[in-house]
Amino acid sequence: MTPHTQDKQSAPLAILAENVHTVADAVLHEAGFTIERIGGALEGEPLRSALQRAQFIGIRSKSQIRRLSIEEAPGLLAIGCFCIGTNQVDLDTAEHRGVPVFNAPFANTRSVAELTIAEIVCLFRRTFDQSSGLHRGEWDKSAEGSHEVRGRTVGIVGYGHIGSQVSVLAEAMGMRVLFHDIARKLPLGNAHFRAKLDELLHESDVVTLHVPSTPLTDGMIGAKQLARMKRGSHLINNARGSVVQYAAAADALRSGQLGGLAADVFPEEPLRNGERFESPLQGLTNVILTPHVGGSTEEAQEAIALEVAEKLSRFWRDGSTSSAVNFPGVDLPHQRVGELRIMHVHRNVPGVLGRMHTLLASRNVNISAEFLQSTRDVSYVILDTEPVQDPAVLRALAEMPETIRMRVARS
Ligand code: NAI
Repeated sequence: MTPHTQDKQSAPLAILAENVHTVADAVLHEAGFTIERIGGALEGEPLRSALQRAQFIGIRSKSQIRRLSIEEAPGLLAIGCFCIGTNQVDLDTAEHRGVPVFNAPFANTRSVAELTIAEIVCLFRRTFDQSSGLHRGEWDKSAEGSHEVRGRTVGIVGYGHIGSQVSVLAEAMGMRVLFHDIARKLPLGNAHFRAKLDELLHESDVVTLHVPSTPLTDGMIGAKQLARMKRGSHLINNARGSVVQYAAAADALRSGQLGGLAADVFPEEPLRNGERFESPLQGLTNVILTPHVGGSTEEAQEAIALEVAEKLSRFWRDGSTSSAVNFPGVDLPHQRVGELRIMHVHRNVPGVLGRMHTLLASRNVNISAEFLQSTRDVSYVILDTEPVQDPAVLRALAEMPETIRMRVARS
């Protein structure tokens, strides 16, 4: 194997597909990348060709990068998923081929929190029913059943990135905030922790869910939990479709146990625009349905593009993988002027690092910094050394039987 050598003049090619927001370009240019853009999803021959030519590939959620594609891309250094999810990439194969995958898991946090706040207000005011009435030509001006949110209690289930933002915004509107989480979380502002979900359900005027999809959260709000809620209170699910049993929620809406509901996520969502959508919630009063757009704003797209472009640049410049989703997390500060940075991915078996040290020491090459991390099968080490005069040393490192991939950067 010839080590991939990178110096100040190297310009890696990044192919960006699916209209990744253009703010990515400035960040990547700054780091020395050459950028090529492809309009739609990468598939078929264009995908093959991109993977043959590019050192970096940037996609969103439509391009599928599967095992064979990764195995046929010897020059590929990293994949950027300019989105939240990464299941469009075969992460396992990428890891075993030494290719880290980066994403931006929390860049749309604020967008989801803002939609949730808007929905809280709209549910308490029955805004969508009033609006639909006017679209049908029915004027019905009345204060009955419309309420301010000030002084009302919001119960937040899952106090992570999104839940805690909702907490701050809701409190700014004069709401009392309760939250429930399985992990210990610092309450923001005057929020109160409730150890039992049941207590939160019983005390809240509106419950909003911000938990991940896990076996524990699967169907966590069903008939029993809905019955625990205050009569006429509201429910919001902008988390995952699996969290709420919607048939039970539809019954609760019909009986008046639930006063309103907003849902952005569903157990089965159409894969393409224009495909038919069906849910037991359709046609019910005071129900807001949105097509999984909680995190879909131009600001979020911009934030995602910046975050992923920065992660790719840092990986190119410093070898940093601490934010990769499928890779040992290694981070070293910038290399010092005149030094060599060796970025070595190898199979996680005993003795490799020792042999690397011995090889370098045998040629009198001093190591000034080192950081190694491993997953079950793969190890990644960054070594900063003084300049290596003999290219055979680097070749020997690259040709160790355990080596998966190696890159060398001269500062
Ligand atoms: P996060 O990981 O920052 O927070 C999740 C919180 O839920 C954590 O504090 C965790 O401890 C807690 N949690 C986990 N299991 C729990 C349980 N059984 N009971 C109580 N708490 C539990 O995640 P983030 O970014 O706040 O996202 C929350 C949800 O929102 C996720 O399901 C995510 O997929 C979804 N989401 C939806 C979007 C949309 O477009 N509608 C966009 C972005 C995220």
